[in-house]
Amino acid sequence: IVQYVIRTRNSIILDDASSEDQFSFDQYVLRHRSRSILCLPLIKQGKLIGVLYLENNLSPRVFTPSRVAILELLASQAAISLENMQLYVEIEEREAKIRRLVDANIVGIFIWNSEGRIIEANEAFLQMVGYRKADLRPDGLSWADLTLREWHEHDERAAEALRTTGIVHAYEREFRTNNGSRVPVLIGEAAFGGQRDEGVAFVVDLTERKRAEAEARESERRRREAQYELEHANRVAAIGQLSASIAHEVNQPVAASITNAETALRWLGAENPNLQKAREALGRIADDGRRAADVIGRIRALIKKEPPSMVGVEINETIREVIVLTQGEMTKNGVTLLTRLADGLPLVQGDKVQLQQVILNLIINAAEAMASSDEEPRELHIATNSTDSQSVLVLVADTGPGLASTNYERLFDAFYTTKPTGLGMGLPICRTIIEAHGGQLWASANLPRGAVFQFTVPLLPAE
Ligand SMILES: Nc1ncnc2c1ncn2[C@@H]1O[C@H](COP(=O)(O)OP(=O)(O)O)[C@@H](O)[C@H]1O
Ligand SMILES: [Mg+2]
Repeated sequence: IVQYVIRTRNSIILDDASSEDQFSFDQYVLRHRSRSILCLPLIKQGKLIGVLYLENNLSPRVFTPSRVAILELLASQAAISLENMQLYVEIEEREAKIRRLVDANIVGIFIWNSEGRIIEANEAFLQMVGYRKADLRPDGLSWADLTLREWHEHDERAAEALRTTGIVHAYEREFRTNNGSRVPVLIGEAAFGGQRDEGVAFVVDLTERKRAEAEARESERRRREAQYELEHANRVAAIGQLSASIAHEVNQPVAASITNAETALRWLGAENPNLQKAREALGRIADDGRRAADVIGRIRALIKKEPPSMVGVEINETIREVIVLTQGEMTKNGVTLLTRLADGLPLVQGDKVQLQQVILNLIINAAEAMASSDEEPRELHIATNSTDSQSVLVLVADTGPGLASTNYERLFDAFYTTKPTGLGMGLPICRTIIEAHGGQLWASANLPRGAVFQFTVPLLPAE
C-alpha cells in the first residue's frame, strides 16, 4: 500500500482492507487482519517527502470524510515540518563543512564588513599578520590597519569591483603586520549576499615562496657571473697564446713606419726637397699606424670585461677581425688560410666579442692540431653560409690529424684534453656561448683528414 502511494502519489482509504480485492492478499494485511487503512502522501511543492500511514484493525470504515479532511490538513503541516527539519540538518552539515575549512588553517580566511572591520579570522590569517583573536573586537582590527600606503589606490578599485561583481580575483599584495613588517600574500575576495556589505577573503602566505625565488635569482646571478669570469679568462688565455705572433704583427708596421719616416726626412732634407715623395712616405706611415692601432683595438675589445649584449652582428666582418689576429700564427706554422664567406648574409643576433671568442678558440685548436703533425698541406678553411631563414652557419675545418675519438660529444666535456698543457675548457666554453645565443655547435670528421667544427647563430629578428 505504501509502495503504491509512493509510486502514484494518490491517497488510499480502505474501509475494510481484508475484504477489498485490491489489497486483500497483501501479506501484511493478511497477517495483521487490517481493517481500516488510510495512507496519504506528504507532498510539499510537488515533492514527495513522506507518507502518513494509519490503520485500525478493530473496525472498518473509521476514516470518515470529515476525519480524512482533518488528517489531510495535519498531513500538509507535517510535510512542512519534515521539510524544515531536513533543511536544518542540511544547513548544519554545510555549516560544519565551512567551519572545518576555516579551522583547518590551510589558508588564511577572514570575514570583513563594509566599514572595513575584520569581524572574523582564522588562526592561519592572524598568524600571518601577527594579531590575536582578541584583536577582533567590533572597534578592533580593520582593513586599514593591514594596508600599506601604496595599496590605497588599488584597494579603492578592488572595492569597486566587489560592489559591481561581488568578486576580486586572486592577486598578489603585501599586508602590514602588527610589528610593522611586510608579508607578501596571495588574496582573493568574495562579497556575501545581495547587500554585499560583508564578505570573505582567502589569503595564502607567499613569504617562503618569495624567499625561494629571490634565492634562485641570486644563485642564478652568481652562476652567470662565474660563467663571465670563466669566459673572460679563456679569452685572455687565447690572446696570450697568440701574443708572440701578435707582437710580431704589430711590430711590422712600426718598423715599416720608422723606415718610411727616414725616407720622408731624406726627401725633405735633399737640396731639392721632393715633396711628392715625402707625402707618399707619410701616407704609408699613416696606413701602417692605423693597421697597428687596429690590431691593438681588437685585442682590447677581446680583453675588455663586460657582460654580453645581444645586438645585430655582421658575421663575416666578425670573422675577418679574428683572422687579422691569427694571421701571424698561421704564417709561423705554415698554414694556408682559405676563406669562403658568403655575400649578403643577414645580421645575426649576438655578442660580437663572444662570437669572436668562439672562432678564435676553433682557429687556435685547428692550428695546434696541424702543428702537431707533419702531414702537408696544412689548410684552414673558414666558411659562412645561410642555412635556412633562421640562422647562419659558420664552418672551421682543418687538415690536421683529426679527432682522437669518434665520440665527438666528449670533446665538449669540461677538462677533456689530449694536450700536455691543455686545459680542456675551450670547446665547453664555445658551446655554452653558442647555446646562449640559441645556436648549436658540433664536431665531425673532415675528408680525407682533419676535423670540422660548425656552429649556427640565429638571425636578428626583423622588427
Ligand atoms: N681541430 C681539432 N683537431 C683535432 N682535435 C681537436 C681539434 N679541436 C679540438 N680537438 C680535441 O678536443 C680537445 C679539447 O679541446 P679544447 O676544449 O679546446 O681544450 P684544449 O685545447 O685545452 O685541449 C683537444 O685536446 C683535442 O683533443
Ligand atoms: Mg683549445
